[in-house]
Amino acid sequence: MVLRSIVSGALVSLSLVLAPQAMAAGNAQAGAALVKARCQMCHVFNKGQKPTIAPNLNGVNGRKAGSSDFAQYSPALKASGIVWNAAKLDTFLQAPNKMVPGTKMVISLPDATQRADVVAFLVSNK
Ligand code: HEC
Repeated sequence: MVLRSIVSGALVSLSLVLAPQAMAAGNAQAGAALVKARCQMCHVFNKGQKPTIAPNLNGVNGRKAGSSDFAQYSPALKASGIVWNAAKLDTFLQAPNKMVPGTKMVISLPDATQRADVVAFLVSNK
């Protein structure tokens, strides 16, 4: 009996710990903070917001690469044929120039956890 409640208690706390990170995705809230520090000097993130020096990343999940109303896309990104999803965003952010040689996006996130968090934020920012 005692053992059983210890075990189920442990399972409950384990699922509480894991819940915000369901699926292989990261933590969107941590991602939002990272985006503020690492992406917002170039990108905008609100729906309908005019891009300045980089594309608006609102609704980027499911969007064709290089297809928003940003006027200064590189020919490389426009021609890449990529349709963004979590896995592709993760690959891109690890090494943009490897996935899309010639892209003007030069910022990479080598840390896998940070990347997962940022991708979780991007996917949630519809
Ligand atoms: C120094 C400015 C700069 C920073 C900082 C920056 N980016 Fe970019 N990003 C760009 C530019 C410019 C492009 C367009 C690239 C092209 O046309 O080849 C771009 C393109 C992208 C795209 C493709 C968008 C599309 O419409 O296809 C994604 C996704 C992206 N950036 C994510 C990020 C994330 C996430 C961060 C923060 C970790 C970040 N970027 C930081 C300048 C920046």
